Amino acid sequence: MLEQIISIVRQAGETVLSARGISARTYEKSSAADLVTEFDLAVENFLKEKLPPLCPGAVFFGEEESENADPSRGWAFIVDPIDGTTNFVRGLKQSAISVALACDGAVEYGVVYDPYKDEMFSARRGGGAFLNGRPIRVSQRPIEQGVFGMGTAIYRREYLEPTMRLTEQLFKRSCDFRRLGAAALDLCNVACGRTELFFEYSLCPWDQAAGSLIVTEAGGFVCTLEGKPLTLTDRCSVWASNQVNKDVLKELEV
Ligand code: IPD
Ligand code: CA
Ligand code: CA
Repeated sequence: MLEQIISIVRQAGETVLSARGISARTYEKSSAADLVTEFDLAVENFLKEKLPPLCPGAVFFGEEESENADPSRGWAFIVDPIDGTTNFVRGLKQSAISVALACDGAVEYGVVYDPYKDEMFSARRGGGAFLNGRPIRVSQRPIEQGVFGMGTAIYRREYLEPTMRLTEQLFKRSCDFRRLGAAALDLCNVACGRTELFFEYSLCPWDQAAGSLIVTEAGGFVCTLEGKPLTLTDRCSVWASNQVNKDVLKELEV
């Protein structure tokens, strides 16, 4: 199953790489900060056609068109066709395709593909996490020697103040931080030890489903900022870290 998902996601990456005239094919959803392009739709439609036959009975829960599917019951593909759409539109080349296959609310398979770097992150529950087929592990650096990633929960501006407060607390204890603009890649960066932790106050299931399995299968730790398990039924906050920094969350004012 994992190999088949990987093969389909790799093909979908060609649409991202060959995209031209992106600005003219970009539309605002709720605001200028909430964009969709014809390429998001093309990738999602491609995945919607190719993925469900791999798992008969599975529902398809995509960011752009989810047909009221419930991703927390039975088998479900949970798909972000382009995570990091703003990066994509602006030519920042930092976006990914994220696909999870979950059963009854537990993610069983996760694939995150960065077509620009040709980096394919993947994991199967209980089977470890991989980058281009090689096993990956979280880092062992404490936050004091670490770099963390954060997201600004752009679609929920009410989280601005807590986001900045948490960033300040972590920045004071760390070397530096990054705001990449693609949560799925932020999670994979923790998984392969490029960063020590990541947080965001509000993410949708398609942003975090695949990446969170990749983090845990790489030996990392994932929960909400309240210390609860992540959910596929709604938006939630996300904290992901290596083991060394697992308890840092308890020391912070969230
Ligand atoms: C967004 C990105 C961004 C994160 C937002 C997400 P999109 O996804 O992952 O980094 O801060 O919360 O919604 O809209 O580019 O698919
Ligand atoms: Ca996303
Ligand atoms: Ca998206």
